[in-house]
Amino acid sequence: MRGRRTPTTSGTVLVTGGGSGIGAGLAGAFHARGRQVVVAGQTRERVEAVASRHPGMEAEVVDVSEADQVAALAERLVERHPDLDTVISNAGVQRLFDFTGLGPLDAAELGREVDVNLKGVIHVANTFLPHLQNRPGSRLVNVGSGLGYVPLTAAPVYSATKAAVHSFTVSLRRQLQGSTVQVVELIPPAVVTDLHRHLDRQPPRAMQLDAFVTAAMAGLDAGRDEIVVGLAKALQVFQRLAPGVGLNIVNRPD
Ligand SMILES: NC(=O)c1ccc[n+]([C@@H]2O[C@H](COP(=O)([O-])OP(=O)(O)OC[C@H]3O[C@@H](n4cnc5c(N)ncnc54)[C@H](OP(=O)(O)O)[C@@H]3O)[C@@H](O)[C@H]2O)c1
Repeated sequence: MRGRRTPTTSGTVLVTGGGSGIGAGLAGAFHARGRQVVVAGQTRERVEAVASRHPGMEAEVVDVSEADQVAALAERLVERHPDLDTVISNAGVQRLFDFTGLGPLDAAELGREVDVNLKGVIHVANTFLPHLQNRPGSRLVNVGSGLGYVPLTAAPVYSATKAAVHSFTVSLRRQLQGSTVQVVELIPPAVVTDLHRHLDRQPPRAMQLDAFVTAAMAGLDAGRDEIVVGLAKALQVFQRLAPGVGLNIVNRPD
């Protein structure tokens, strides 16, 4: 059936941004099912701490915004785990930017989210797809966001990168239809994680991480192409039917 595929159940799983939050949660869920899991992230202590909580899990250090580092990671992993068949492109950062100030914002700061959230997803896809296309039943899972449907205006670059990840994923899926690779987009609502460390509190109505991971794994088990979780479904509907209403709801002060 279109939009669904039979899920893989055996090969090695790579999770970028696996040192915390959603990545660590998904890594733990795959590990609990007996899969070999590798968590990769930019801070060694964080990925090693996650791996040490799960016997047999491996940790790798990578900055996904650096194409050379992603290529080196792929070389190491494919040699060590030729059965790698699931790549979860989850690493991401979120910052707030106010463009109403008198001076220009720091260009390097502005570019960082594009480098990690968008270029990182592109580098991971570009680097791992040749291998995945030789693995029957393989999957590339890009992590988008409900904010890709309706932006959080205080996080304008973040929201734009997630809209771009959605578009990129749609294109990849179409290019790879008929191949061995299922291209999946996992679209979370607000979830309680460190992503919001720059805020003084978690977003209102944020989903608990465990509940999110359970829903995401159910979507993966069902073989869905787009896994839209919790309130992200409402944002998808608002984008289609009443974008102005969605914008007001996402950005209302609570
Ligand atoms: N939480 C939410 O409300 C929510 C909602 C929608 C979508 N998402 C998406 O879900 C994904 C995971 O976020 P999260 O909520 O779990 O937040 P998180 O706990 O902050 O996780 C993000 C992870 O990405 C890693 N990372 C950041 N920059 C990296 C880079 N250049 N290279 C490799 N790893 C990097 C971080 O590692 P370090 O700590 O070492 O930097 C961190 O472990 C992100 O793509 C995010 O946009 C989250």
